[in-house]
Amino acid sequence: MEMIRNQWYLACLLDELKHQNPLKKKIVGQELVVFKTESGKIGVMEDRCCHRNVNLSLGKVQGETIKCGYHGWEYNTQGACTCIPSLPEGETVPRTVRIEAYPVEVKHQAVWVYIGDEALMSQAIIPPMTELDEFPIVYNYHFLDADLKLVAESLIDAYHINHVHSASIKTFMGNLYGEDVEFNLNIQDKYLTGEYLRHNDSSIWEKLYFGFDKEIKTKFGFWFPHTSKLDIQFKKRRMVIYEHFYQVDEHTISMCQITAWQKIFNEFPLFIFDKPFMLNKSNKIVEEDIVFLENNKRIKDETGKRDILIQSDTVTFEFSKLWNRNLKANTVGYDEPVEAKDKE
Ligand code: FES
Ligand SMILES: [Fe+2]
Repeated sequence: MEMIRNQWYLACLLDELKHQNPLKKKIVGQELVVFKTESGKIGVMEDRCCHRNVNLSLGKVQGETIKCGYHGWEYNTQGACTCIPSLPEGETVPRTVRIEAYPVEVKHQAVWVYIGDEALMSQAIIPPMTELDEFPIVYNYHFLDADLKLVAESLIDAYHINHVHSASIKTFMGNLYGEDVEFNLNIQDKYLTGEYLRHNDSSIWEKLYFGFDKEIKTKFGFWFPHTSKLDIQFKKRRMVIYEHFYQVDEHTISMCQITAWQKIFNEFPLFIFDKPFMLNKSNKIVEEDIVFLENNKRIKDETGKRDILIQSDTVTFEFSKLWNRNLKANTVGYDEPVEAKDKE
């Protein structure tokens, strides 16, 4: 299967670039080095020194350049080699000595990199993750052997929460009981959003933290092909979970979960551990999901077997249509998945 290029991908959170060490990343098969210079410029380039093809991420950031750890060649954020220490005095670095640098955007506390055909760049979207600019955040990365489409859908799947997440996070995300849920879907070309109500069955401690409201407004969204959102809204509190995912290579998916929440310190001066608390919750949620995401066996066309969706799977059905439609437009030679049916 061809990996999905021609998209803006989240290369790292700004928080990861605090220490000026270069970061090594791999997105849709492309090895990348991400670094921030002394003056704050950010570069995302192929992770390869063109002298002897070693990873530049083994080197160090110095001033405005990244310096290869092997023989000290230096590159600026545009990928141009600016210094070769062994060059005889008076000689300049040939202009052809350069590596590929990718388009970069800094948005919503993250560094985004565009990988693919630059002629198609204007069609790719960075999701409006505005909560990351307003609230404190925690994040974690997970690497899975799973189906990308299933990972993409997992956060907006309303019905798995009752079952998959019942043991560890109890019920603070709310419950659904076989009722007719109105999802208020808004389906666009490249994304969908929606909202519905869940029952607040939290423990007394969770209610103290999140609120005593009877119903929890739950908003969700998916932006093709890499980001999904769950936005849990109490009257006074709000918790927003984003998941950003992509194929690292043919066998591995990277999933970064970012959780943002409305700070409640002003009302609860004694509750000073909200970051570790949220990180712990966030990690547990993902671990519980991974069991099922890695267990899923994507049914192949040849078997003639299909996912069976029922009336209440309307979000999954619409997500699947959006996914398949965009996948066709974004990849060449993609082995098209079986389209899910509403009813057999
Ligand atoms: S391999 Fe990078 S400077 Fe020689
Ligand atoms: Fe989940």
